[in-house]
Amino acid sequence: MPERLDKFLSSQNICTRKEAAKLVRAGAVLINGVPADSPAQKLDPEADRVAVEGREIQYRQYVYIMMNKPAGVLSATEDKHTSTVLDLLPPDLRRRGLFPAGRLDKDTTGLLLITDDGELAHKMLTPKSHVYKLYRAMLEKPVAPEDIIAFEKGVTWGDVAFAPAKLYVCPGEEPNAAYVEIREGKFHQVKRMFQAVGNQVLALERLRIGGLYLDKSLPEGGCRLLEKAEIASIFSKGS
Ligand code: URA
Repeated sequence: MPERLDKFLSSQNICTRKEAAKLVRAGAVLINGVPADSPAQKLDPEADRVAVEGREIQYRQYVYIMMNKPAGVLSATEDKHTSTVLDLLPPDLRRRGLFPAGRLDKDTTGLLLITDDGELAHKMLTPKSHVYKLYRAMLEKPVAPEDIIAFEKGVTWGDVAFAPAKLYVCPGEEPNAAYVEIREGKFHQVKRMFQAVGNQVLALERLRIGGLYLDKSLPEGGCRLLEKAEIASIFSKGS
């Protein structure tokens, strides 16, 4: 769909619409190699090549950012008192409309997707899509065999019933470590599921969403753009 040049430049986080007008006046914006003559000029973001001050813009309708969320920050767009995951984004990845797709608790670490694509976020989060999220939990005490069966059937905490989940341990790891896969995203879900079987989560990290794994080369608080294949892998099964 054709879009105004100044709107296009601000949507791609290149400059504000006001700055776009200045750049156009200075002859610094080229559309398909020809200097743009007005910030109101229409272009096709998918087909036209736009360059600003000699640098070609790589058009992205939406952005998809993987973050290795650290403990102590909120999965929110803004907060008066506490840093949010959006505050951690480097300037070149910031743009209007970004939000964390699904919440991790303040003390939970690991894989978080930040995007401005509401449709994808909805598809990823709805339990109907069966996109499983894998967590590693450090627990107060080791998992009991009956907990595995209870999770498989679906545990209840108070009046909240949780959908069946996969719970397993890995031989050779710390005795109190466990892995949980859930497809819902209810408030404090993993913590409450363990409470329901008389255990307590001491630390929680998300490792995978669907088939998309946390990039372990990202330091805590680090982030990077996802490739197309990685975005698609969210909806592949994972293992
Ligand atoms: N379950 C929880 O209890 N907390 C999270 O942050 C994510 C899942």
